[in-house]
Amino acid sequence: MPNPSITIRRAETSDLKEIHQIEVECFYEDAFSQSQMKEIIKDPGFIFLVAIMNENIVGFIIGGLENFRDKTVGHIYSIDVKPEYRNRGIGSLLLESMENLLVEEGVKECYLEVRVDNMAARNLYFKHEYRFFELLSNYYGAGKDGIRLIKKLSVKE
Ligand SMILES: CC(C)(COP(=O)(O)OP(=O)(O)OC[C@H]1O[C@@H](n2cnc3c(N)ncnc32)[C@H](O)[C@@H]1OP(=O)(O)O)[C@@H](O)C(=O)NCCC(=O)NCCS
Repeated sequence: MPNPSITIRRAETSDLKEIHQIEVECFYEDAFSQSQMKEIIKDPGFIFLVAIMNENIVGFIIGGLENFRDKTVGHIYSIDVKPEYRNRGIGSLLLESMENLLVEEGVKECYLEVRVDNMAARNLYFKHEYRFFELLSNYYGAGKDGIRLIKKLSVKE
């Protein structure tokens, strides 16, 4: 169960430094730059959420709407939780919060991509009912395959 003291809200440009620090901790040299992340936060085409615990940002998720094979679908671009805050439900809470907003936007499907060797993320997504859609050879660079997953979103009661 997620810690009840965790709240989820939209990211603001004043969060940039904290968000970028998490991005670098998670993705090292593949991390987005601070200026790229600033553009994403400001772009209304993205849904950028942060998880807050004790007034600190401990994780974030970036998603949005996209045209994919003639349909408007949800797409999750990135999810990062600070290493010392993992395995306590924060990734799940971020994912569920994003899906709820995507449902509010009226989309019925959500896609995302993940490296085949990223077992933590794969398990997170499979636990949340994402299913294999297609293999993406060399998607993350030479020899670094990805998989695209899909979830049928449904309005929660
Ligand atoms: C993937 C990530 C966001 C998960 O965040 P989290 O807050 O630890 O996730 P949760 O605590 O909600 O875990 C939910 C499920 O994910 C899976 N999971 C999480 N960490 C795992 C690990 N280290 N190994 C295997 N499965 C793991 C489990 O199925 C877990 O369910 P369980 O607790 O019932 O076993 C986090 O590990 C992370 O930030 N990784 C680095 C960035 C990254 O790879 N992002 C994804 C890019 S596509």
